[in-house]
Amino acid sequence: MKILGIDTSCDDTAIALLRAEGSEFEILSNIVSSQVELHKKYGGVYPFLAKREHQKNLPVVFKKSLGRRKPEEIDAIAVTSGPGLEPCLWQGINFAVDLAEKLKKPLMPVNHIEAHILANFIERDLESVKMPAVCLVVSGGHTSLFLMKKIGRYQLIGETRDDAAGECFDKVARILGMGYPGGPLIAKAAAEFNGKKSSVELPRPMIHQKNYNFSFSGLKTAVLYNYKSQPSKVRKSKEYIREMAFETQEAIIDVLLYKTLKAARNFKAKTVMIGGGVAANEELRKQFKEKINSEGMSFSVPSGKFCTDNGVMIALTAYLSPKRVMDFKKLKAEGNLNI
Ligand code: KG4
Ligand code: ZN
Repeated sequence: MKILGIDTSCDDTAIALLRAEGSEFEILSNIVSSQVELHKKYGGVYPFLAKREHQKNLPVVFKKSLGRRKPEEIDAIAVTSGPGLEPCLWQGINFAVDLAEKLKKPLMPVNHIEAHILANFIERDLESVKMPAVCLVVSGGHTSLFLMKKIGRYQLIGETRDDAAGECFDKVARILGMGYPGGPLIAKAAAEFNGKKSSVELPRPMIHQKNYNFSFSGLKTAVLYNYKSQPSKVRKSKEYIREMAFETQEAIIDVLLYKTLKAARNFKAKTVMIGGGVAANEELRKQFKEKINSEGMSFSVPSGKFCTDNGVMIALTAYLSPKRVMDFKKLKAEGNLNI
């Protein structure tokens, strides 16, 4: 069957067409229209603008995702119903409902967090992933740890008390005057610093607390205080920016890895899976892989383009963990939808 996957939960308009038969998947198209340029000047996502852009982009991205195919070839339409920015989610939902009504095809709501976890199965054999798994979803909006017994069964075991890890990358990048989105920019600057001895010491919030929760707002504040204490010449220097980027990235990775590993040991996980935009971070992937493999567990992470928001993970989640809406009018955007 051919499933169309639509995601408008944040600032990317993403649509993909996936062919799925048994446990074989083929990506027929995967289009992501980024709004980065638009939101850059605000240093973050401005929901009203994002909503307007989704409305404008959806028909164009849909057409591109079809290529030469006819809309009638689509067998089911999957759309993110939450969590995310509600005005943005509604744009995707309205588009999906119209299409499902017009084509008389099933409409399948998808949880964006579950999709970030199941993105691990886009390029990996289903059977090769041994359960139970501990899953870390790290994105601009979420930092959550789950225990997964099988597809469709997840138990939330920890989450951030304040900012998400991606939000911390973005806010620190803004403090350092680097631009948006901060994650890739911090990663690049950190790589340029790597290998040198740093004089800055940033906190590892909540690392030794007896739970699986996270907190990143104090880390951002520590960067802000350090920045403010520096003479303007230092603050603007490449060396300082690289050093702060490196230290921020290390602090975030340290906390994420420590808590994920603790959960994996305690729940006797066979696999650790990560997903979400921050999981695209090369240094994080490297450190996770080394440490988790050294403890005899498997490590799984989607390739970078499937860590950040995309329509393929939405279509695949609808296929692997199907839900169906019979009365299209009942489908609602749920900004805080739980898994
Ligand atoms: O999953 P995603 O595309 O959207 C949400 O669901 O939030 O994640 C976006 C987040 C942003 O905060 C961005 O800065 C971060 O992922 N990100 C990264 C990297 N690429 C994207 N963070 C660190 N390193 C990266 N390479
Ligand atoms: Zn996401």
